[in-house]
Amino acid sequence: MDFKTTDFKMAEKPKKIGAKPSVAHLGREVAEKVNRFHKSFPMYEETPLRALNALSETLGVKKILVKDESFRFGLNAFKVLGGSFAIGSYIADRLETDIDALPYEKMTSEEIRQTLGPLTFISATDGNHGRGVAWTVRELKQSSVIYMPKGSAEERLENIRAEGAKADITELNYDDAVRLANRHAEENGWILVQDTSWKGYETIPTYIMQGYTTTALEALKQMAGEKPTHIFLQAGVGSFAAAVTGFFAAVYGEACPSITIVEPNEAACIYETMAADDGEIHAVTGDMRTIMAGLACGEPVTVGIDILRHYASHFISGPDYAAAQGMRVLGAPLKADPRIISGESGAAGVGMFYEIMTNPALSGWKERLKLDSDSVVLFFSTEGDTDRTNYRRIVWDGAFARP
Ligand SMILES: Cc1ncc(COP(=O)(O)O)c(C=O)c1O
Repeated sequence: MDFKTTDFKMAEKPKKIGAKPSVAHLGREVAEKVNRFHKSFPMYEETPLRALNALSETLGVKKILVKDESFRFGLNAFKVLGGSFAIGSYIADRLETDIDALPYEKMTSEEIRQTLGPLTFISATDGNHGRGVAWTVRELKQSSVIYMPKGSAEERLENIRAEGAKADITELNYDDAVRLANRHAEENGWILVQDTSWKGYETIPTYIMQGYTTTALEALKQMAGEKPTHIFLQAGVGSFAAAVTGFFAAVYGEACPSITIVEPNEAACIYETMAADDGEIHAVTGDMRTIMAGLACGEPVTVGIDILRHYASHFISGPDYAAAQGMRVLGAPLKADPRIISGESGAAGVGMFYEIMTNPALSGWKERLKLDSDSVVLFFSTEGDTDRTNYRRIVWDGAFARP
């Protein structure tokens, strides 16, 4: 087979990183508080952490652990963790109370609805975040408006509409859809619940990142004292990756596992930022056509990028076929291993790792990443088959095969 390294790029930790940012706001104490909030939801259940022992033996590492977020709240993706915690925290701030005083039952009560009056929440999304926001807003019996980028899957749109949102697919890419949502929030007095930040819009995105720590905290507890040597995290704007990186950096301190960030080639804004190593942020523009819809974001999250600069160790940009391979590896496991249904963005981490371990053109990368028979590698499958048509095209029909 004709493998090409040029399909894959890797940057190491940049040198120009400025002052070390605090990660206390993503640490264990905050994560426990966030988790108390999520646990108050009647549909809360820990998502499973799966060990793929046969796969780890085949690929030559000690252990492969995959946190399967397809089970989250029946929504097939982790994203609701961020949207729900941000909306809860927004309401707590408005009521000048602590989020601990606003568990699900209180937050969704008629009393709170009457106190707040009618509210409209707005967001732009590739699908998963918007579904989580629309779901939370429906629980609150309030209104939501959701904009999706050009090329978004019909199924993802319908899932958001099914939560009662006024949702549409725009002619814009993700970053421009975010700008449109922001403008309409300002014009109409709506509340923007966006999973990325910029100067002057930082409070809600920070709450969203804190919301994501629930999955990291659950994983930490499920590992029961076993420490990963490596963590692979997929990034769109990087909020999820920065939240999980911040959590583990806070928990493990100097002994933090090696953290590798993965992105699609078409939208590798974090890779570009780290590779440039000039202390600036480097955006990617254009249509960002990739099957990894959740990662098709061109502008890194400003409140997360320095966390990634300081605490992550490698940044990989890779092709769609790696994510597709990850979906197949997880969806058609070796006999003794459990099956994980993972979507295009969900499987990106496993897919890139699989390439590193099996693609001869990348053989030097194992050493660069120090992946060997002592490695315990943790992944987050952040979504299930959120676009079932494409899932079948890839897993059954073999679309996006390795060249
Ligand atoms: C399934 C999935 N995984 C990962 C991500 C990446 O999250 P972030 O944009 O915070 O980097 C997304 C974003 O939408 C997503 O939908």
